[in-house]
Amino acid sequence: MVAGCRARAPAKVILLGEHWVVHGGLALASSIGVYARVTCISQGSGLVVESPSLSVSEELRGGRCRRLCGLARAAEYIEERLGVSTGVRCRIESDIPLGAGLGSSAAVAAAFAAAYSCLLLGGRQPPRDLVNGAAYEAEKVVHGRPSGVDNTVTVYGGLLLYRRGSLMKPLPPPPVSDAVLLIALTGVERSTRVAVERFTSRLRLLGDQASRLIELNDSLVAEALAALWRKDYKRLGALMTLAHGLLNGMGVSIPLLDEIVASAVAAGAHGAKLTGAGLGGSVVILAPRDKVDDIRASMPAGVRLLEASLAAPGVAAQPIPEAASGAGGGRG
Ligand code: PMV
Repeated sequence: MVAGCRARAPAKVILLGEHWVVHGGLALASSIGVYARVTCISQGSGLVVESPSLSVSEELRGGRCRRLCGLARAAEYIEERLGVSTGVRCRIESDIPLGAGLGSSAAVAAAFAAAYSCLLLGGRQPPRDLVNGAAYEAEKVVHGRPSGVDNTVTVYGGLLLYRRGSLMKPLPPPPVSDAVLLIALTGVERSTRVAVERFTSRLRLLGDQASRLIELNDSLVAEALAALWRKDYKRLGALMTLAHGLLNGMGVSIPLLDEIVASAVAAGAHGAKLTGAGLGGSVVILAPRDKVDDIRASMPAGVRLLEASLAAPGVAAQPIPEAASGAGGGRG
């Protein structure tokens, strides 16, 4: 018997293909080494989830959820599939900035789904497809029409080529190189749902051009992948900057994101683009290592730069033995 389980799941970065992937296009994405952690301890008869950093503590059963309804749905999905449920108290801790385009909601949902299902399975590592299905259900509640790329990357980890409903191709980690991937965090929070609606209505307006644009995205993704393997970072960077221009044309950039892209490129980056939903959030910058300081100095005030380590492992859970559970929480 275990007292509980803890799990962690990584953030993600979309290198190319966000938004187009919602409409059947390809996306190239990778997990990165920044994590959400969830600890679930057997307790009482309810399903209480708390997140001290969000100042939230909610009972999720009986339709009582308010802000964490995605997790309520994930728990239901797991209980339906496993045919069991239990009283539990879970605690979320996350280092992934919220609303930053780094898949924080999917990572929290995956870590929660892994910790809760591990507990229901008596401390065993849950099947990844169960965790992925639950995280996708949570994403549907939060975003309305997710492509599934965020939950897939956080659950399986690594570098992935993804197409909604048909293709999830895990790729070997990219070759070691002197190019670095930086993430510029604007701190401007936005809703993925709103950005997806904006992009979708622009695509509808474009009528016959829509399918051509989706094909263009797919060819940019395929070329980007080839450039990554050839270590042709100039070409990869040019493709990224072009992809940003297209996203801008589709209405999901804002002047601050455009300024970051332009400043990074002027300071010597190979290329840059918004990542995730846009309208705020983050920019990914591909740069030669010796230009990082110049790029940092060129950033608009208030923008924070992280260096991303690509292809982090996917979600993982571990049991908490009875004797270790005294604190009723823990650090995943
Ligand atoms: O900004 P995020 O982390 O929610 O990423 C959204 C990615 C989109 O392609 C815009 C939406 C989706 O479901 O794929």
